[in-house]
Amino acid sequence: MGTAIAHSIEESRQVEQTRLDALKTAAERNKWGQFATPTPLALSLAAYAHTLMGEHPVRFLDPSIGTGSFFSALLETFAEDRLEAARGVELDPLFARAAMDLWAGQGLHVDQGDFTTQQPAPDVRFNLVIANPPYVRHHHLSGDDKERLKAKLMQSLRLDISGLAGLYCYFMLLCHDWMEKHALAIWLIPSEFMDVNYGSTVRRYLTEHVTLLHLHRFCPTDSQFADALVSSVVVAFRKAPPPPSGHSARFSFGGLIESPDTEALVPLDTLRQSHKWTQFPANPHVVKTDDLKLGDVFSIKRGLATGSNGFFILRKEDALKWQIPNQFLKPILPGPRNLQSDTIEASANGLPLVATPLFLLDCNHSEAEIEQKWPSFFEYLQQGKKQEIHSAYLASRRVPWYSQENRPPAPFLCTYMGRSRNGKHPFRFIWNRSQATAHNVYLMLYPKGPLRDALKERPELEAEIFEKLQNISQDLFISEGRVYGGGLHKVEPKELAKIPAGFLLDGLESTIRKGQQLTLVMA
Ligand SMILES: C[S@@+](CC[C@H](N)C(=O)[O-])C[C@H]1O[C@@H](n2cnc3c(N)ncnc32)[C@H](O)[C@@H]1O
Repeated sequence: MGTAIAHSIEESRQVEQTRLDALKTAAERNKWGQFATPTPLALSLAAYAHTLMGEHPVRFLDPSIGTGSFFSALLETFAEDRLEAARGVELDPLFARAAMDLWAGQGLHVDQGDFTTQQPAPDVRFNLVIANPPYVRHHHLSGDDKERLKAKLMQSLRLDISGLAGLYCYFMLLCHDWMEKHALAIWLIPSEFMDVNYGSTVRRYLTEHVTLLHLHRFCPTDSQFADALVSSVVVAFRKAPPPPSGHSARFSFGGLIESPDTEALVPLDTLRQSHKWTQFPANPHVVKTDDLKLGDVFSIKRGLATGSNGFFILRKEDALKWQIPNQFLKPILPGPRNLQSDTIEASANGLPLVATPLFLLDCNHSEAEIEQKWPSFFEYLQQGKKQEIHSAYLASRRVPWYSQENRPPAPFLCTYMGRSRNGKHPFRFIWNRSQATAHNVYLMLYPKGPLRDALKERPELEAEIFEKLQNISQDLFISEGRVYGGGLHKVEPKELAKIPAGFLLDGLESTIRKGQQLTLVMA
Protein backbone atom coordinates (compact mmCIF):
# COMPACT_ATOMS: atom_id res chain seq x y z
CA MET A 1 0.00 0.00 0.00
CA GLY A 2 1.19 3.59 0.48
CA THR A 3 0.68 6.33 -2.05
CA ALA A 4 3.31 7.57 -4.50
CA ILE A 5 3.37 10.86 -2.55
CA ALA A 6 4.04 9.07 0.74
CA HIS A 7 6.83 7.07 -0.93
CA SER A 8 8.50 10.15 -2.22
CA ILE A 9 8.18 11.91 1.17
CA GLU A 10 9.72 8.82 2.79
CA GLU A 11 12.70 9.15 0.47
CA SER A 12 13.08 12.81 1.48
CA ARG A 13 12.71 11.79 5.13
CA GLN A 14 15.64 9.40 4.90
CA VAL A 15 17.79 12.12 3.33
CA GLU A 16 16.70 14.58 6.03
CA GLN A 17 17.41 12.05 8.77
CA THR A 18 20.96 11.55 7.50
CA ARG A 19 21.47 15.31 7.23
CA LEU A 20 20.19 16.01 10.76
CA ASP A 21 22.12 13.09 12.29
CA ALA A 22 25.31 14.46 10.77
CA LEU A 23 24.82 17.84 12.49
CA LYS A 24 25.50 16.33 15.92
CA THR A 25 28.40 14.37 17.33
CA ALA A 26 27.76 10.84 18.59
CA ALA A 27 27.97 12.15 22.18
CA GLU A 28 25.34 14.83 21.51
CA ARG A 29 23.02 12.32 19.87
CA ASN A 30 23.44 10.08 22.90
CA LYS A 31 22.39 12.89 25.19
CA TRP A 32 19.27 13.55 23.11
CA GLY A 33 18.59 9.84 22.65
CA GLN A 34 18.56 10.32 18.89
CA PHE A 35 18.73 6.96 17.20
CA ALA A 36 16.25 6.69 14.39
CA THR A 37 14.41 3.44 13.80
CA PRO A 38 15.70 1.73 10.65
CA THR A 39 13.00 1.76 7.97
CA PRO A 40 12.57 -2.06 7.75
CA LEU A 41 12.02 -2.21 11.51
CA ALA A 42 9.52 0.69 11.45
CA LEU A 43 7.63 -1.14 8.68
CA SER A 44 7.69 -4.38 10.61
CA LEU A 45 6.22 -2.70 13.72
CA ALA A 46 3.54 -0.96 11.67
CA ALA A 47 2.60 -4.26 10.04
CA TYR A 48 2.45 -5.84 13.48
CA ALA A 49 0.16 -3.03 14.68
CA HIS A 50 -2.01 -3.61 11.63
CA THR A 51 -2.59 -7.24 12.59
CA LEU A 52 -3.65 -6.21 16.12
CA MET A 53 -5.78 -3.16 15.32
CA GLY A 54 -8.65 -4.92 13.59
CA GLU A 55 -10.85 -2.61 11.55
CA HIS A 56 -10.78 0.34 13.94
CA PRO A 57 -9.98 3.81 12.68
CA VAL A 58 -6.54 4.77 13.95
CA ARG A 59 -5.73 7.70 16.22
CA PHE A 60 -1.95 7.55 16.37
CA LEU A 61 0.56 9.08 18.78
CA ASP A 62 4.37 9.03 18.67
CA PRO A 63 5.70 10.90 21.74
CA SER A 64 9.24 11.20 20.31
CA ILE A 65 8.60 11.42 16.62
CA GLY A 66 12.02 12.35 15.20
CA THR A 67 11.55 12.69 11.44
CA GLY A 68 8.47 10.44 11.59
CA SER A 69 9.67 6.95 10.65
CA PHE A 70 6.67 5.29 12.32
CA PHE A 71 4.15 7.68 10.81
CA SER A 72 5.63 6.99 7.40
CA ALA A 73 5.44 3.23 8.03
CA LEU A 74 1.77 3.58 9.04
CA LEU A 75 0.97 5.35 5.77
CA GLU A 76 2.64 2.47 3.99
CA THR A 77 0.77 -0.21 5.94
CA PHE A 78 -2.74 1.07 6.68
CA ALA A 79 -5.31 2.11 4.08
CA GLU A 80 -5.36 5.89 3.75
CA ASP A 81 -8.86 6.30 5.17
CA ARG A 82 -7.99 4.33 8.35
CA LEU A 83 -5.90 7.20 9.83
CA GLU A 84 -8.31 9.43 11.69
CA ALA A 85 -5.74 11.46 13.64
CA ALA A 86 -1.97 11.46 14.03
CA ARG A 87 0.16 13.40 16.43
CA GLY A 88 3.85 13.58 17.24
CA VAL A 89 5.84 15.29 19.95
CA GLU A 90 9.50 16.16 19.49
CA LEU A 91 11.90 18.10 21.68
CA ASP A 92 14.56 18.94 19.11
CA PRO A 93 13.32 21.95 17.10
CA LEU A 94 15.21 20.77 14.00
CA PHE A 95 13.55 17.36 14.01
CA ALA A 96 10.16 18.83 14.91
CA ARG A 97 10.42 21.26 11.97
CA ALA A 98 11.51 18.47 9.63
CA ALA A 99 8.60 16.20 10.68
CA MET A 100 6.13 19.05 10.22
CA ASP A 101 7.48 20.05 6.83
CA LEU A 102 7.52 16.48 5.62
CA TRP A 103 4.23 15.13 6.92
CA ALA A 104 1.79 17.97 7.70
CA GLY A 105 0.18 17.46 4.27
CA GLN A 106 -0.46 13.80 5.18
CA GLY A 107 -2.33 14.70 8.36
CA LEU A 108 0.39 14.62 11.02
CA HIS A 109 0.28 17.25 13.71
CA VAL A 110 3.62 17.87 15.47
CA ASP A 111 4.14 19.64 18.79
CA GLN A 112 7.63 20.87 19.50
CA GLY A 113 8.41 20.38 23.17
CA ASP A 114 9.27 17.99 25.98
CA PHE A 115 6.74 15.14 26.01
CA THR A 116 7.19 14.59 29.74
CA THR A 117 5.98 18.11 30.53
CA GLN A 118 2.89 17.90 28.35
CA GLN A 119 -0.60 17.07 29.45
CA PRO A 120 -3.09 15.29 27.19
CA ALA A 121 -6.19 17.34 26.38
CA PRO A 122 -9.15 15.81 28.27
CA ASP A 123 -11.09 15.04 25.09
CA VAL A 124 -8.20 13.58 23.09
CA ARG A 125 -7.11 10.00 23.55
CA PHE A 126 -5.11 7.87 21.15
CA ASN A 127 -5.76 4.23 20.33
CA LEU A 128 -2.35 3.42 18.85
CA VAL A 129 1.06 4.40 20.19
CA ILE A 130 4.20 3.28 18.39
CA ALA A 131 7.31 4.73 19.94
CA ASN A 132 11.08 4.53 20.05
CA PRO A 133 11.65 6.87 23.02
CA PRO A 134 14.96 8.62 23.74
CA TYR A 135 17.42 6.16 25.34
CA VAL A 136 18.72 8.84 27.69
CA ARG A 137 20.49 7.39 30.71
CA HIS A 138 19.64 8.62 34.17
CA HIS A 139 22.94 10.46 34.67
CA HIS A 140 21.97 12.84 31.85
CA LEU A 141 18.80 13.77 33.81
CA SER A 142 19.19 16.54 36.37
CA GLY A 143 18.11 16.07 39.98
CA ASP A 144 15.24 18.52 39.41
CA ASP A 145 14.10 16.63 36.32
CA LYS A 146 14.06 13.36 38.23
CA GLU A 147 12.02 14.90 41.06
CA ARG A 148 9.51 16.33 38.59
CA LEU A 149 9.23 13.06 36.65
CA LYS A 150 8.86 10.96 39.80
CA ALA A 151 6.15 13.27 41.14
CA LYS A 152 4.27 13.14 37.84
CA LEU A 153 4.43 9.36 37.77
CA MET A 154 3.18 9.11 41.32
CA GLN A 155 0.28 11.39 40.46
CA SER A 156 -0.64 9.54 37.28
CA LEU A 157 -0.16 5.83 38.09
CA ARG A 158 0.66 5.91 41.82
CA LEU A 159 3.96 4.23 40.99
CA ASP A 160 7.32 4.98 42.58
CA ILE A 161 10.43 4.56 40.46
CA SER A 162 14.15 4.32 41.12
CA GLY A 163 16.33 7.36 40.41
CA LEU A 164 18.43 5.09 38.17
CA ALA A 165 15.66 4.69 35.60
CA GLY A 166 16.42 6.04 32.13
CA LEU A 167 14.15 8.54 30.38
CA TYR A 168 12.58 5.80 28.25
CA CYS A 169 10.91 4.32 31.36
CA TYR A 170 9.18 7.62 32.14
CA PHE A 171 8.08 7.99 28.52
CA MET A 172 6.37 4.63 28.53
CA LEU A 173 4.71 5.10 31.91
CA LEU A 174 3.62 8.71 31.36
CA CYS A 175 2.12 7.84 27.99
CA HIS A 176 -0.53 5.81 29.83
CA ASP A 177 -2.70 8.90 30.32
CA TRP A 178 -2.62 9.70 26.61
CA MET A 179 -4.17 6.40 25.59
CA GLU A 180 -7.83 5.56 25.46
CA LYS A 181 -9.18 2.36 26.99
CA HIS A 182 -8.01 -0.74 25.04
CA ALA A 183 -5.49 1.33 23.08
CA LEU A 184 -2.58 -0.64 21.66
CA ALA A 185 0.98 0.39 22.55
CA ILE A 186 4.13 -0.85 20.83
CA TRP A 187 7.39 0.34 22.37
CA LEU A 188 10.89 -0.21 21.08
CA ILE A 189 13.07 0.16 24.17
CA PRO A 190 16.36 -1.12 25.62
CA SER A 191 15.99 -4.61 27.08
CA GLU A 192 17.82 -3.54 30.26
CA PHE A 193 14.60 -2.98 32.22
CA MET A 194 13.85 -6.70 31.94
CA ASP A 195 16.56 -7.64 34.44
CA VAL A 196 17.79 -4.66 36.46
CA ASN A 197 16.40 -3.32 39.72
CA TYR A 198 15.35 0.03 38.29
CA GLY A 199 13.20 -1.86 35.78
CA SER A 200 10.95 -3.28 38.50
CA THR A 201 8.46 -0.39 38.16
CA VAL A 202 8.13 -0.97 34.43
CA ARG A 203 7.74 -4.73 35.00
CA ARG A 204 5.09 -4.04 37.58
CA TYR A 205 3.27 -1.68 35.23
CA LEU A 206 3.31 -4.32 32.50
CA THR A 207 1.95 -7.06 34.75
CA GLU A 208 -0.49 -5.09 36.95
CA HIS A 209 -1.75 -2.03 35.05
CA VAL A 210 -2.06 -3.17 31.44
CA THR A 211 -2.55 -6.36 29.45
CA LEU A 212 0.86 -7.45 28.30
CA LEU A 213 0.70 -9.11 24.90
CA HIS A 214 4.20 -9.69 23.61
CA LEU A 215 7.88 -9.00 24.26
CA HIS A 216 10.22 -9.62 21.38
CA ARG A 217 13.93 -9.36 22.05
CA PHE A 218 16.31 -8.92 19.13
CA CYS A 219 19.34 -11.17 19.00
CA PRO A 220 22.34 -9.01 19.91
CA THR A 221 24.48 -10.57 17.18
CA ASP A 222 21.90 -9.95 14.51
CA SER A 223 23.45 -7.30 12.38
CA GLN A 224 20.36 -6.29 10.47
CA PHE A 225 19.70 -3.33 12.72
CA ALA A 226 21.93 -0.40 13.55
CA ASP A 227 24.22 -0.67 16.57
CA ALA A 228 21.99 1.39 18.84
CA LEU A 229 19.32 -1.30 18.65
CA VAL A 230 21.61 -4.12 19.59
CA SER A 231 19.95 -4.82 22.93
CA SER A 232 16.43 -3.72 22.11
CA VAL A 233 13.09 -5.24 22.85
CA VAL A 234 9.66 -4.56 21.40
CA VAL A 235 6.95 -4.45 24.07
CA ALA A 236 3.31 -4.66 22.99
CA PHE A 237 0.39 -4.19 25.38
CA ARG A 238 -3.17 -2.93 25.61
CA LYS A 239 -4.40 -0.33 28.02
CA ALA A 240 -6.73 -2.64 29.90
CA PRO A 241 -6.31 -4.20 33.34
CA PRO A 242 -4.80 -7.69 33.06
CA PRO A 243 -7.36 -10.52 33.01
CA PRO A 244 -7.94 -11.80 36.59
CA SER A 245 -6.42 -15.21 35.85
CA GLY A 246 -4.95 -17.42 33.20
CA HIS A 247 -3.30 -14.73 31.07
CA SER A 248 0.05 -15.48 29.46
CA ALA A 249 2.24 -13.11 27.48
CA ARG A 250 4.19 -14.15 24.41
CA PHE A 251 7.96 -13.90 24.79
CA SER A 252 10.05 -14.30 21.67
CA PHE A 253 13.68 -13.97 20.80
CA GLY A 254 15.81 -13.55 17.67
CA GLY A 255 14.79 -12.99 14.06
CA LEU A 256 11.93 -10.64 13.30
CA ILE A 257 8.88 -9.95 15.42
CA GLU A 258 6.70 -11.59 12.76
CA SER A 259 8.95 -14.65 12.50
CA PRO A 260 10.94 -15.05 15.71
CA ASP A 261 13.58 -17.72 16.14
CA THR A 262 12.05 -18.95 19.39
CA GLU A 263 9.00 -18.18 21.46
CA ALA A 264 7.06 -19.26 24.49
CA LEU A 265 3.94 -18.25 26.39
CA VAL A 266 4.80 -17.11 29.91
CA PRO A 267 2.02 -16.90 32.54
CA LEU A 268 1.61 -13.47 34.17
CA ASP A 269 2.01 -15.07 37.59
CA THR A 270 5.44 -16.36 36.60
CA LEU A 271 6.40 -12.91 35.34
CA ARG A 272 5.23 -11.23 38.54
CA GLN A 273 7.44 -13.50 40.59
CA SER A 274 10.47 -13.19 38.37
CA HIS A 275 13.11 -10.45 38.55
CA LYS A 276 14.89 -11.54 35.41
CA TRP A 277 12.77 -11.55 32.31
CA THR A 278 15.50 -12.23 29.77
CA GLN A 279 15.35 -15.89 30.86
CA PHE A 280 12.17 -16.13 28.75
CA PRO A 281 11.58 -17.88 26.46
CA ALA A 282 13.28 -20.36 28.80
CA ASN A 283 15.05 -23.40 27.38
CA PRO A 284 13.09 -22.97 24.17
CA HIS A 285 14.54 -26.06 22.58
CA VAL A 286 16.70 -28.65 24.12
CA VAL A 287 18.71 -29.96 21.25
CA LYS A 288 20.62 -33.19 21.24
CA THR A 289 24.03 -32.52 19.80
CA ASP A 290 23.31 -35.14 17.11
CA ASP A 291 20.55 -32.90 15.74
CA LEU A 292 22.59 -29.74 15.85
CA LYS A 293 22.99 -27.73 12.63
CA LEU A 294 25.45 -24.93 11.83
CA GLY A 295 22.49 -22.53 11.84
CA ASP A 296 21.89 -23.40 15.53
CA VAL A 297 25.29 -22.11 16.60
CA PHE A 298 25.96 -19.42 13.99
CA SER A 299 23.97 -16.55 12.56
CA ILE A 300 24.97 -16.87 8.93
CA LYS A 301 24.84 -13.82 6.66
CA ARG A 302 26.02 -13.10 3.16
CA GLY A 303 28.88 -10.55 3.15
CA LEU A 304 27.98 -7.02 2.14
CA ALA A 305 26.95 -6.21 -1.38
CA THR A 306 28.40 -2.87 -2.45
CA GLY A 307 26.96 -2.85 -5.97
CA SER A 308 30.36 -1.83 -7.35
CA ASN A 309 33.42 -3.24 -5.59
CA GLY A 310 35.70 -1.41 -8.03
CA PHE A 311 34.40 1.92 -6.79
CA PHE A 312 33.55 1.26 -3.13
CA ILE A 313 36.56 -0.90 -2.24
CA LEU A 314 39.83 1.02 -2.43
CA ARG A 315 43.48 0.31 -1.99
CA LYS A 316 45.28 2.43 0.57
CA GLU A 317 47.12 4.48 -2.03
CA ASP A 318 43.87 5.33 -3.83
CA ALA A 319 42.19 6.34 -0.57
CA LEU A 320 45.20 8.55 0.16
CA LYS A 321 45.26 9.98 -3.34
CA TRP A 322 41.61 11.05 -3.05
CA GLN A 323 42.15 12.18 0.54
CA ILE A 324 39.21 10.15 1.78
CA PRO A 325 39.07 10.66 5.56
CA ASN A 326 39.84 7.56 7.65
CA GLN A 327 36.48 7.77 9.38
CA PHE A 328 34.80 6.71 6.11
CA LEU A 329 37.11 3.78 5.45
CA LYS A 330 36.53 0.36 6.99
CA PRO A 331 39.04 -2.45 6.56
CA ILE A 332 37.63 -5.15 4.29
CA LEU A 333 39.13 -8.47 3.28
CA PRO A 334 40.28 -9.12 -0.26
CA GLY A 335 38.61 -11.94 -2.20
CA PRO A 336 39.72 -15.50 -1.36
CA ARG A 337 42.09 -15.66 -4.34
CA ASN A 338 44.16 -12.90 -2.77
CA LEU A 339 44.35 -14.48 0.64
CA GLN A 340 47.62 -16.30 1.09
CA SER A 341 46.52 -17.97 4.30
CA ASP A 342 43.23 -19.26 5.73
CA THR A 343 44.00 -17.46 8.99
CA ILE A 344 43.97 -13.68 8.86
CA GLU A 345 46.14 -12.25 11.58
CA ALA A 346 45.71 -8.65 12.68
CA SER A 347 47.88 -5.66 13.54
CA ALA A 348 47.58 -4.12 17.01
CA ASN A 349 44.76 -1.86 15.78
CA GLY A 350 42.80 -4.69 14.21
CA LEU A 351 43.84 -4.21 10.57
CA PRO A 352 44.15 -7.49 8.67
CA LEU A 353 47.72 -8.46 7.82
CA VAL A 354 47.24 -9.12 4.12
CA ALA A 355 49.42 -8.35 1.11
CA THR A 356 47.16 -5.60 -0.23
CA PRO A 357 45.06 -3.96 2.49
CA LEU A 358 41.70 -2.81 1.19
CA PHE A 359 39.18 -0.33 2.53
CA LEU A 360 35.43 -0.06 2.15
CA LEU A 361 34.02 3.39 1.52
CA ASP A 362 31.06 3.90 3.87
CA CYS A 363 29.91 7.43 4.61
CA ASN A 364 26.64 8.93 5.85
CA HIS A 365 27.42 12.60 5.34
CA SER A 366 25.60 14.58 2.68
CA GLU A 367 27.29 15.43 -0.59
CA ALA A 368 26.95 19.14 0.22
CA GLU A 369 28.91 18.67 3.43
CA ILE A 370 31.52 16.50 1.73
CA GLU A 371 31.97 19.11 -0.99
CA GLN A 372 32.60 21.78 1.61
CA LYS A 373 34.87 19.81 3.95
CA TRP A 374 36.62 17.23 1.77
CA PRO A 375 36.75 18.53 -1.83
CA SER A 376 39.01 15.78 -3.12
CA PHE A 377 36.74 13.05 -1.67
CA PHE A 378 33.82 14.91 -3.26
CA GLU A 379 35.65 14.77 -6.58
CA TYR A 380 35.95 10.97 -6.17
CA LEU A 381 32.17 10.73 -5.69
CA GLN A 382 31.63 12.84 -8.79
CA GLN A 383 33.83 10.44 -10.76
CA GLY A 384 31.58 7.66 -9.50
CA LYS A 385 28.52 9.56 -10.65
CA LYS A 386 30.02 10.03 -14.09
CA GLN A 387 30.33 6.24 -14.24
CA GLU A 388 26.68 6.09 -13.05
CA ILE A 389 27.64 4.07 -9.98
CA HIS A 390 25.06 6.02 -7.94
CA SER A 391 22.15 5.01 -10.16
CA ALA A 392 22.96 1.29 -10.32
CA TYR A 393 20.52 -1.08 -8.60
CA LEU A 394 22.02 -1.43 -5.11
CA ALA A 395 23.59 2.02 -4.70
CA SER A 396 20.41 3.80 -5.81
CA ARG A 397 18.51 2.09 -2.99
CA ARG A 398 20.86 3.36 -0.29
CA VAL A 399 20.70 6.80 1.27
CA PRO A 400 23.21 8.26 0.64
CA TRP A 401 24.28 6.03 -2.25
CA TYR A 402 27.85 5.78 -0.88
CA SER A 403 26.74 4.32 2.49
CA GLN A 404 26.82 0.55 3.09
CA GLU A 405 24.93 -2.24 4.84
CA ASN A 406 25.92 -2.94 8.43
CA ARG A 407 28.10 -6.07 8.54
CA PRO A 408 30.36 -6.17 11.60
CA PRO A 409 33.50 -8.32 11.32
CA ALA A 410 32.79 -12.05 11.81
CA PRO A 411 35.38 -14.44 13.26
CA PHE A 412 34.67 -17.12 10.66
CA LEU A 413 33.98 -16.84 6.97
CA CYS A 414 33.18 -19.35 4.28
CA THR A 415 33.69 -18.71 0.59
CA TYR A 416 30.39 -18.41 -1.23
CA MET A 417 31.49 -20.14 -4.41
CA GLY A 418 34.10 -22.74 -5.17
CA ARG A 419 35.28 -25.19 -7.74
CA SER A 420 36.26 -28.73 -6.76
CA ARG A 421 39.52 -29.65 -8.39
CA ASN A 422 41.60 -32.75 -7.79
CA GLY A 423 39.48 -33.73 -4.83
CA LYS A 424 40.11 -30.34 -3.20
CA HIS A 425 37.39 -28.87 -1.02
CA PRO A 426 35.39 -26.41 -3.13
CA PHE A 427 34.66 -24.14 -0.17
CA ARG A 428 37.20 -22.54 2.09
CA PHE A 429 36.76 -21.51 5.70
CA ILE A 430 38.67 -18.45 6.86
CA TRP A 431 39.51 -17.56 10.45
CA ASN A 432 39.32 -13.78 10.61
CA ARG A 433 41.21 -12.54 13.65
CA SER A 434 41.06 -8.95 12.39
CA GLN A 435 38.43 -6.23 12.50
CA ALA A 436 37.88 -6.38 8.76
CA THR A 437 34.44 -6.92 7.32
CA ALA A 438 33.85 -8.91 4.14
CA HIS A 439 31.93 -8.55 0.91
CA ASN A 440 29.59 -11.00 -0.71
CA VAL A 441 32.13 -13.47 -2.01
CA TYR A 442 32.04 -14.73 1.57
CA LEU A 443 29.38 -15.95 3.98
CA MET A 444 29.92 -14.54 7.46
CA LEU A 445 29.44 -16.80 10.50
CA TYR A 446 28.59 -15.01 13.73
CA PRO A 447 28.59 -17.36 16.75
CA LYS A 448 25.32 -17.27 18.67
CA GLY A 449 23.70 -18.75 21.77
CA PRO A 450 25.86 -21.00 23.95
CA LEU A 451 28.68 -21.05 21.39
CA ARG A 452 28.92 -17.26 21.54
CA ASP A 453 28.93 -17.37 25.36
CA ALA A 454 31.60 -20.05 25.39
CA LEU A 455 33.83 -18.07 23.01
CA LYS A 456 33.38 -14.94 25.09
CA GLU A 457 34.53 -16.82 28.17
CA ARG A 458 37.32 -18.70 26.41
CA PRO A 459 38.39 -16.92 23.20
CA GLU A 460 41.12 -19.51 22.68
CA LEU A 461 38.37 -21.96 21.64
CA GLU A 462 38.17 -20.13 18.30
CA ALA A 463 41.18 -22.05 17.01
CA GLU A 464 39.51 -25.36 17.83
CA ILE A 465 36.21 -24.39 16.23
CA PHE A 466 38.04 -23.21 13.14
CA GLU A 467 39.87 -26.48 12.78
CA LYS A 468 36.60 -28.37 13.05
CA LEU A 469 34.92 -26.16 10.46
CA GLN A 470 37.76 -26.85 8.06
CA ASN A 471 37.20 -30.55 8.50
CA ILE A 472 33.55 -30.53 7.41
CA SER A 473 33.28 -33.13 4.71
CA GLN A 474 32.89 -31.62 1.28
CA ASP A 475 30.12 -34.10 0.46
CA LEU A 476 27.94 -32.42 3.05
CA PHE A 477 28.49 -29.07 1.41
CA ILE A 478 27.85 -30.30 -2.03
CA SER A 479 24.63 -32.02 -1.00
CA GLU A 480 23.33 -28.83 0.66
CA GLY A 481 24.64 -26.35 -1.91
CA ARG A 482 24.12 -26.12 -5.64
CA VAL A 483 26.31 -27.17 -8.52
CA TYR A 484 26.70 -25.09 -11.66
CA GLY A 485 28.32 -25.92 -14.97
CA GLY A 486 31.99 -26.82 -14.88
CA GLY A 487 31.87 -28.09 -11.29
CA LEU A 488 31.23 -24.65 -9.80
CA HIS A 489 29.52 -24.93 -6.42
CA LYS A 490 27.59 -22.28 -4.54
CA VAL A 491 26.35 -22.34 -0.99
CA GLU A 492 23.69 -19.92 0.29
CA PRO A 493 23.43 -18.91 3.98
CA LYS A 494 20.33 -21.08 4.45
CA GLU A 495 22.06 -24.07 2.90
CA LEU A 496 25.17 -23.67 5.05
CA ALA A 497 22.89 -23.38 8.09
CA LYS A 498 21.52 -26.88 7.41
CA ILE A 499 24.86 -28.64 7.64
CA PRO A 500 25.03 -30.93 10.70
CA ALA A 501 27.26 -29.44 13.36
CA GLY A 502 27.18 -31.88 16.28
CA PHE A 503 30.88 -32.63 15.69
CA LEU A 504 31.65 -28.95 16.39
CA LEU A 505 30.71 -29.45 19.99
CA ASP A 506 32.56 -32.72 20.55
CA GLY A 507 34.84 -32.09 23.45
CA LEU A 508 33.44 -28.59 23.87
CA GLU A 509 30.19 -29.66 25.44
CA SER A 510 31.41 -29.25 28.97
CA THR A 511 32.16 -25.61 28.19
CA ILE A 512 28.97 -25.01 26.35
CA ARG A 513 26.67 -26.94 28.61
CA LYS A 514 25.11 -24.58 31.09
CA GLY A 515 23.59 -26.33 34.07
CA GLN A 516 22.14 -29.69 33.16
CA GLN A 517 21.05 -29.12 29.62
CA LEU A 518 22.47 -27.84 26.43
CA THR A 519 20.05 -25.08 25.53
CA LEU A 520 20.23 -23.57 22.14
CA VAL A 521 18.40 -20.83 20.40
CA MET A 522 17.13 -22.47 17.27
CA ALA A 523 17.24 -20.64 13.94
C1 LIG B 1 15.14 7.23 19.59
S1 LIG B 1 14.70 8.66 18.70
C2 LIG B 1 13.32 8.07 17.77
C3 LIG B 1 12.83 8.96 16.69
C4 LIG B 1 11.74 8.37 15.80
N1 LIG B 1 10.51 8.11 16.52
C5 LIG B 1 12.21 7.10 15.15
O1 LIG B 1 11.77 6.04 15.61
O2 LIG B 1 13.00 7.14 14.21
C6 LIG B 1 14.01 9.65 19.99
C7 LIG B 1 13.59 11.04 19.60
O3 LIG B 1 13.11 11.67 20.79
C8 LIG B 1 13.50 13.03 20.82
N2 LIG B 1 13.45 13.48 22.22
C9 LIG B 1 14.44 13.47 23.15
N3 LIG B 1 13.97 13.91 24.33
C10 LIG B 1 12.65 14.21 24.14
C11 LIG B 1 11.62 14.72 24.98
N4 LIG B 1 11.87 14.99 26.25
N5 LIG B 1 10.39 14.92 24.44
C12 LIG B 1 10.14 14.61 23.14
N6 LIG B 1 11.08 14.15 22.30
C13 LIG B 1 12.31 13.93 22.79
C14 LIG B 1 14.88 13.00 20.19
O4 LIG B 1 15.22 14.28 19.69
C15 LIG B 1 14.71 11.93 19.09
O5 LIG B 1 14.29 12.55 17.90
